[in-house]
Amino acid sequence: MAAADDKKELARATRTYLAREADAGRGDLWTLAAGETPRPRKPRAAKPAAPAVAAAPAPKCAIATLEAIGPTGASGLSPAGDTLEQIAHEVRGCTKCGLCETRTQAVPGVGTGKVGVVFVGEAPGAEEDRRGEPFVGRAGDLLTKMIQAMDEKQLIPGVTLSREAVFIANVLKCRPPENRNPLPHEIEACSPYLRRQLALLQPKVIFCLGKFAAELLVGAKGTIGGMRGTVYRYGDSKLLVTYHPAACLRNPNYKRPVWEDLQLMAREYQTA
Ligand code: URA
Ligand code: SF4
Repeated sequence: MAAADDKKELARATRTYLAREADAGRGDLWTLAAGETPRPRKPRAAKPAAPAVAAAPAPKCAIATLEAIGPTGASGLSPAGDTLEQIAHEVRGCTKCGLCETRTQAVPGVGTGKVGVVFVGEAPGAEEDRRGEPFVGRAGDLLTKMIQAMDEKQLIPGVTLSREAVFIANVLKCRPPENRNPLPHEIEACSPYLRRQLALLQPKVIFCLGKFAAELLVGAKGTIGGMRGTVYRYGDSKLLVTYHPAACLRNPNYKRPVWEDLQLMAREYQTA
């Protein structure tokens, strides 16, 4: 009896220790998560689906050319014949907002999206601007680790996750000077590219990293704390929200809820 109690106590102490280590940012939460079973977060009753794409009017003319519809893709639907490469090409030459003046290069997105998972961040930072690829700086390293941890723990059984297998993009395709927040007119000018990418990819799950992606794709203002844990819809895709990896770098206490959100996303993926 006493031995069983001791065992329980040891297990409890170990869990507490691991949680504290992770919360303090020591070690790698995405690795520590292996031996843990974080409390599953009960999804709140999903709010009515985000109307963003679903409610958008269909294009007036199904055979309209890309130029006629424009990169706004007005409806958010993908013009016939659109491709990720075509979008990337337009993005690289885009002058629709002032950020084209200060960028080194635009950052259209990376990955194939073949497994049906898309991550959406805010905007390129300095390293992304230099390399033309999203999430390759410090925050990017953390996102890459998150994806690797999901794969290692087989969060989605039978599905191999990597930067190549998913698609990673941002709300803004060009870096705002000094990494300032995106401005409303920049989001308006740039978001049609993201909507076209999503319309093409038709992912099972869209995972928003941070407030700007979340508010744009949910279609409502809110805090991450208030939006995470809810399963929204974007067209036919499920859409979930979590803290931006840069927020996790500033405050490691965010890593645990982010991992829980990734687990929720993995569960939702399997029933999508
Ligand atoms: N933060 C983002 O939101 N996107 C990037 O590509 C890099 C950092
Ligand atoms: Fe074009 Fe978007 Fe870059 Fe502005 S941020 S120039 S809209 S690609």
